[in-house]
Amino acid sequence: MKVLVTGGAGFIGSHLVDQLVKLEYDVHVIDNFSTGKRDFLSPLAHLYKFDIRGNETRQWIQEEKPDVIFHLAAQADVSKSMNEPRVDADTNINGTINILEACRNHDIKKLIFSSTSAVYGNIVRDRISEKDLAEPVSFYGLSKRTAETYIQLISSLYDIPFTILRYGNVYGPRQTVKGEGGVIAVFLDQLKKQKPLNIHGDGEQTRDFIFVKDIVQANLAAIERGNRDIFNISTAQSTSVNQIVNILRQLHKQPVSVRYSAARKGDIQDSCLDNQKAKKWLKWKPKIDIHSGLAETYQYVFS
Ligand SMILES: NC(=O)c1ccc[n+]([C@@H]2O[C@H](COP(=O)([O-])OP(=O)(O)OC[C@H]3O[C@@H](n4cnc5c(N)ncnc54)[C@H](O)[C@@H]3O)[C@@H](O)[C@H]2O)c1
Repeated sequence: MKVLVTGGAGFIGSHLVDQLVKLEYDVHVIDNFSTGKRDFLSPLAHLYKFDIRGNETRQWIQEEKPDVIFHLAAQADVSKSMNEPRVDADTNINGTINILEACRNHDIKKLIFSSTSAVYGNIVRDRISEKDLAEPVSFYGLSKRTAETYIQLISSLYDIPFTILRYGNVYGPRQTVKGEGGVIAVFLDQLKKQKPLNIHGDGEQTRDFIFVKDIVQANLAAIERGNRDIFNISTAQSTSVNQIVNILRQLHKQPVSVRYSAARKGDIQDSCLDNQKAKKWLKWKPKIDIHSGLAETYQYVFS
């Protein structure tokens, strides 16, 4: 099966590419290396240094007709979206429309879109479900939600099968300190540089941290399942920032100093996603708990 991974040189995309190559798919990657790295990318994948907004991307899809497109390429940095909303919208909305337009005239098996819990904004719930209202509070959340809506509409007009996956806070090897939700990457970077871990607020704020390899498995499950639907991809477990620090302390085996600073304006206190729907329809469930996931990430950073 011929598959295209946009953003395949990025943090999540490169792990997906590794697994697809291992499973002997014919893997093609489009990436402009704005944040991705060549070193992350498997040499067994075919690489095209294109921009998802450009003609080259559209032509490539029209001519090569991949069976499945995993669309991960995005501007995924929340603060950048707040400073440069036009750049963010251009990549995340226009880039997605460009890909959809290319899919209009050929029988693609599935478009699988990487979305985010940021579409839910500041909603207060023990577990946020897909039925809850998506009311983003960042331009990044808004551009991803808008891209989802374009996918839904274009797909209904032109019969393009799709699955939208909304991830919790993804972490794992190759994550850089920029990008979405990277408190774990930031802490590991500070540890490596022997700096104190900087916690905003009292550290009791919680997030739904999900290991990157579980995200890869959700993408694979979506090839055959979950057509025309949206799924939260999460652990449905809340872990506080202080708990992350404690696990890192156990792994580091050397004193770890911590500095608490003022809470950031606009930061949400708790965010946890319900994953029942993905379990039921994608037949997927997260397999890696926070202890093993952090151990593997720590090992990657310190080896
Ligand atoms: N990391 C997270 O916690 C998280 C959470 C929810 C959703 N997501 C989504 O998952 C996807 C992957 O995120 P990531 O964390 O791996 O980010 P990343 O920045 O590491 O990867 C994005 C990749 O897309 C490429 N890219 C960006 N703009 C491009 C363009 N115009 N043309 C071609 N390539 C382009 C980058 O070079 C990079 O390789 C994104 O769609 C993001 O919104 C990430």
